[in-house]
Amino acid sequence: MTKTKKKYLLLNGPNLDMLGIREPEVYGTTTLATIEALVLERAAELGVEVECFQSNYEGALVEKIHSAHTAYDGVVYNPGAHTHYSYAIRDAVGSIATPVVEVHISDVDAREPFRAVSVVAPACVAQIKGHGPQGYVEALDGLVAGWSTRLGEGYDKKTSGQVIVGGTF
Ligand code: DQA
Repeated sequence: MTKTKKKYLLLNGPNLDMLGIREPEVYGTTTLATIEALVLERAAELGVEVECFQSNYEGALVEKIHSAHTAYDGVVYNPGAHTHYSYAIRDAVGSIATPVVEVHISDVDAREPFRAVSVVAPACVAQIKGHGPQGYVEALDGLVAGWSTRLGEGYDKKTSGQVIVGGTF
């Protein structure tokens, strides 16, 4: 009998298709294609499947998040600027039982004050920031390890450059 592999979604929001070109002094020169390849490589080591999706459109992202309720076992998600203001994205993440990890390449707490606010993170099970492309790999590792409790409103918002994880139970 063949055991079906767990399946995860690697989701990237607006402007992340511009990685490699976009503000290299902030985001480095690694392209999104390279980040996707890194995560796919890790997925192969872990024996899981990963599908990649990027969009610059909020509605397309909302619908992809909804689909994760039944189609995926977890989501590694960099919401880009939506992080800081999109209640629609936050509600989409809150609508599904599937765990979502929020990833930022840069350390959002060490930049402009508006970036230190995430309206999405409370609905996520972890937030990883300032670890560069490696943060996406760490997020997949965490989901496979069973991160599953949402951070909630009271999470430690001011820990610069950290991995902040909800309870794992
Ligand atoms: C980002 C940080 C956001 O503030 C910004 O809007 C992005 C990228 C990051 O990966 O560091 O688009 O999410």
